[in-house]
Amino acid sequence: MSQGHPPEIWSAARGEQVLAPHATTEGGLLPALHDLQAAFGFIPDEAVRMLAQVFNLSRAEVHGVVTFYHDFRREPAGRHVVKLCQAEACQAMGSRDLAAHAGAHLGVALGGTTGDGRVTLEPIYCLGLCATAPSAMIDGRVLGRVTPARLDAALEALA
Ligand code: FES
Repeated sequence: MSQGHPPEIWSAARGEQVLAPHATTEGGLLPALHDLQAAFGFIPDEAVRMLAQVFNLSRAEVHGVVTFYHDFRREPAGRHVVKLCQAEACQAMGSRDLAAHAGAHLGVALGGTTGDGRVTLEPIYCLGLCATAPSAMIDGRVLGRVTPARLDAALEALA
């Protein structure tokens, strides 16, 4: 797996274990979501149901939080994760065109995963590398001054 340790396979028992430390904490929903994603690589539907119950919220409310934060995935990621910065400074330097280029190269839209499960393409909102925009992060490694050619080369290098 490309990012840290491989994700665990979801099970309700393990899910409960992961969110238990946050269950009694005020404002525990966000840290619980972060820990669930760190453990399983995404937030499964069953986890949303579980969180709603634990935090006494509706599923729609939990779902709203999950979709509001771009960090949370609703589906498992591909073997590689390519994040293209879409915040202001990068946009001014052509990050939208870069995203369209990457999408055409991979055959997926931002937020999608290639059919073979090789690459997930995601937007990210400022990597703190505005001075070298447009920026990207490939499997946790940051890249500045990304051009279509550099991006193509980086994508080709992914196993
Ligand atoms: S806006 Fe892209 S790195 Fe800051």
